[in-house]
Parts: sequence; C-alpha cells; structure tokens
Amino acid sequence: MGVGGIIPPNHVLLKVDRFGFSANNVTYGLLGEDPHFRYFEFHNAPNTNTTSSKTHGVIPVWGYATVVQSTHPRISVGERVFGYLGMSRYLLLPVDHDVNKYNFYVPRPHLPEDRRPYNQITRCAADPLYDPMREDELMIYRPLFWTSFWCEDWLHTTKVAKDTDGIIISSASAKTAYCLAFVLNLRRLYGKVALPAGADWTGTGGTAQPRIVGVTSKRNLEFTKSLRLYDEVFTYDQINELAKRGSRWVYVDVAGNKEFNNKVFKSFGSHIAKGVSLGMSHPSSSKENESFANSNSRLEMFFMPEWLAVRRTNTSVKEITQLQFAGWDALMRTCHQWIQIERVWWSGAAIWQDNVKEVIEAYEECVNGEIGPDRGLILSMWEKGQFDKTSQVKAKL
Ligand SMILES: NC(=O)c1ccc[n+]([C@@H]2O[C@H](COP(=O)([O-])OP(=O)(O)OC[C@H]3O[C@@H](n4cnc5c(N)ncnc54)[C@H](OP(=O)(O)O)[C@@H]3O)[C@@H](O)[C@H]2O)c1
Repeated sequence: MGVGGIIPPNHVLLKVDRFGFSANNVTYGLLGEDPHFRYFEFHNAPNTNTTSSKTHGVIPVWGYATVVQSTHPRISVGERVFGYLGMSRYLLLPVDHDVNKYNFYVPRPHLPEDRRPYNQITRCAADPLYDPMREDELMIYRPLFWTSFWCEDWLHTTKVAKDTDGIIISSASAKTAYCLAFVLNLRRLYGKVALPAGADWTGTGGTAQPRIVGVTSKRNLEFTKSLRLYDEVFTYDQINELAKRGSRWVYVDVAGNKEFNNKVFKSFGSHIAKGVSLGMSHPSSSKENESFANSNSRLEMFFMPEWLAVRRTNTSVKEITQLQFAGWDALMRTCHQWIQIERVWWSGAAIWQDNVKEVIEAYEECVNGEIGPDRGLILSMWEKGQFDKTSQVKAKL
C-alpha cells in the first residue's frame, strides 16, 4: 500500500524512522513462536509472493515514528510517537478506544492482557521522558532499563536479596545486565533508585553489601570492568572461584546459557538462595527445542509486564510515575559513559542499484555476537539520504 492509499477507520499509518537494536531484539526473534512470549504475534509479516505470516515473523523493535495518515479523530498527522514497532518503513496499526493525551493502544485481543505495555504507543508531545535531542539513547535504553528497574524493584519488594552475600549477574556486559547493576548500586547507596541532584555516578567501590558481581566472556571482561558498576567481575570459566566464598547468593541469569547455568548450580549448590531468569543473550540456547519459560526449573522467570501488573494493584499510577522518573533521570545523567551510538541505514546506496544492505549486516553481526558492548546500534530501514527530519517520504514503497 502506498502512503496515498485509504486506510481503514480508526487506524494510523506510521512512518518508522529508526529503532534501537540489541541482543534483546535477537531474543524477540528467538522466542517469536514460543507459546508464552509469542513475539511474532505483535506485527504480521506481509502477504507477498515470498512472505506470509505463516512462514515469516516480524522482529519487534522499540523506535520512533511519525504519523503520516490517521483516520482516528484524536490522532493527528505529523505526531511523533514511540512504541513497539516492526522492522519496517511503514506500519499500519489499528487504534483501540483508550486514547488519551499520553498514549494510545493497539488492540491485540489474541494476546494476554498483561502484554498491554507492548500495545502502548507513547505520544511524544506529552511524554515526560521525551527529549528530541536524545531519541537514540531513549530507543536503546528504554525497553531494557525498565526490565532492569522493575526486576530490582521485585528483588527489593519481595526481599529476595535481603541478607544475601551478593547478586551475581551473567552476561554482565549486556545493557540489561549492567542497568540492573546500576539500579542495585543506587538502592545500596541512596536507599532508593535515584541519583541525588548534583551528584554524578562515579562508580562502585568499597565493601558495601550485598556485593554486585558480574560474570562475562573473556572478550568483554575489560569493558565490563570499565563500567565500574560491579564490585567484581569474573569470566565464565572463573565462576568456581566465587563459589568458594559466601553462603547465600542470588543469581540473575541474563545469558540463558544452560551449560553455564548447570555449572553455577553445581558449584554453588544450595548457596544459591534464588535463581532468576532475565534473558538469553547467548543464542546457543535457542537450539533447545523447548519453552524458554520452562527451560531451567531452578530459575524463576522474571517478566516485567507480569510484575508491573502486580505493582499496579498496590501502587498508584502517580507513585509509579515518580519512581520511574527518578530512575530514568539517574540513567540519563549517566549512560553517556557506557556506549557510543552508531546509526546504520538500510543501505548506503539505493536498493535497486546496490546489494549492500547494511541493516542486514548489522543484524547478522548482532545475532553472531560481533557487536561490541560499547556500541549502541540504531537501525533504519530507510536509506541514507532518503530520511529527513520533516518526515517527507522520498522513497517508492
Ligand atoms: N525479561 C525481559 O523482559 C527482558 C527485557 C529486556 C532484555 N531482556 C534480555 O536480556 C538479554 C540482553 O539483552 P541486551 O539487549 O541488554 O543485550 P546487549 O546489550 O546487546 O548485550 C549483548 C551481550 O550478550 C552477549 N552475547 C551477545 N551475542 C552473543 C553471542 N552470539 N554469543 C555469546 N554471547 C553473546 C555478550 O555478553 P557477555 O559476553 O557478557 O556474555 C554481549 O555483550 C536478552 O536476551 C534480552 O532478551 C529480557
């Protein structure tokens, strides 16, 4: 469909400008057909001669878009929005009845009610976190940070980490992992997830309890140490050394590497007071033909939308907004230390002239773990030079 076509009532046509891309999106792809996560059921693959929703999945991404057509009376053409989009140039979305100043929602009655955060399209004009100069950092960190933030909230609220020697986090160089270390540090230092006015995050240190310990690969060891977010960093093959110390640990698994997890549980035995599954950044685990949610019975899965649904029953929207705002402010004042933003276009040249598809290369590098943790990828399905800030469409669809 061209942008000049007629769209159905109560729909918006979004021009997807660009989106963040990290191991998190690779995991969305790996779990696309998982019966619990169902990530391929958010956006249908188009029906063409070579693709269909039966044979292909669209990997969801968090990104910014501009409304280029609207048949909803309360949504205007030209609006800037943020949400759970697809890797595409355009996205046609239905809009449900709940449209307010801050958000509108995509109706997805086929998915569980707690997936609502994924259905939310945030309207930038009224978004307290929006900063037009920092869209790239917002796209990269927003989805990951909220998982880390609410996971820490869960550990704190349910007192899981109380009276433990420390918290061990695998895939410690991953953004989700080190954002968790960051919020754990804030809580430990200030008693809440916030950075006091005028204070700068200068790194962990001293002998504060509980210890925050990262485990990473050899190639990412120096980067992980340089973050100054972990009291100690081990490589995967050094984990036995840590097991000799302490008697009560919480293990948060971001790697999802079954072999390593078996090693952890073998080395630590009953000294792991709680094992939490937060991610699967090591794609080898995808080879296992079983549900991620049930892949390791010794790990309890943390899934942010589910915990947020629990939190909403005992915490007001205002309070949740305040908590989030304080955490986000701390992140935005600190994250410039951690990554270099890198923009990648569909292709440096016109697609009909050249086979160089830079987005595909970046995608493959990400799947193969070749993107260093110091790089923050922003992808666009537009070609360099076709995209401009006024959202004019120069390409033929
Ligand atoms: N539960 C949730 O709701 C939720 C929400 C957000 C993210 N997550 C999960 O958290 C995980 C991390 O996502 P992220 O976006 O934060 O990651 P990221 O910043 O892109 O970090 C990637 C890291 O993963 C490891 N890695 C990546 N590819 C690899 C490969 N091919 N082989 C081996 N190791 C590889 C490396 O860490 P090491 O060298 O340190 O192992 C690498 O530094 C993902 O699985 C994501 O789905 C879960």
